Amino acid sequence: MKSHPGGEEQTRRLIELAALPAGAAVLDMGAGAGETVELLRSLGFAARGIDLAPRSPAVEQGDLLRAPFPDGSFDAVISQCAFFVSGDQSGALREAYRLLKSGGKLLLSDVFFTPPEPPVRGAGFEILFSEDWTALWKEYYLEALWRGDAPCCDIPKGRSSYRLLIGRKEKQDGYL
Ligand SMILES: C[S@@+](CC[C@H](N)C(=O)[O-])C[C@H]1O[C@@H](n2cnc3c(N)ncnc32)[C@H](O)[C@@H]1O
Repeated sequence: MKSHPGGEEQTRRLIELAALPAGAAVLDMGAGAGETVELLRSLGFAARGIDLAPRSPAVEQGDLLRAPFPDGSFDAVISQCAFFVSGDQSGALREAYRLLKSGGKLLLSDVFFTPPEPPVRGAGFEILFSEDWTALWKEYYLEALWRGDAPCCDIPKGRSSYRLLIGRKEKQDGYL
């Protein structure tokens, strides 16, 4: 089963849009079964993944809200359909910011219950790209409900949107 709308096609799109340098160190936050970690490695990136409940040896056990890495450890962070599942999307964005080097990229696909720009910018990111995938998310979520394995049972009632987003940790003076 695909654990996020769009499956591998969506992952490849995020990676392509982010135009990461060869060999970049990338962390997948909420990596699940590790498909994205494996894909990134096959493309030559130094990828690691953490998840509360890893479903593959390619993924390490760890809480994305308190990731076990020092500040500025990664060139990029990717997260698909996991920040909102953590129950603290703003906290997850702040943790991604902490983990990135200055100028590092955030590759995010996630559900939002309010407009995404304020929390993403509020965490310190410049938004380089944003694409609305809400129509596909609705289809995906209805199918998951139908199968009885929706990704999260605590989805608030009301409008939600699904966004693909590339952000950049704002550069600090004299660096990069
Ligand atoms: C819908 S799945 C997406 C998995 C993967 N990103 C993918 O797209 O295939 C959400 C994942 O987030 C993980 N997760 C939720 N809260 C987390 C937390 N606080 N720290 C780490 N992982 C978390 C879950 O265990 C689950 O594997």
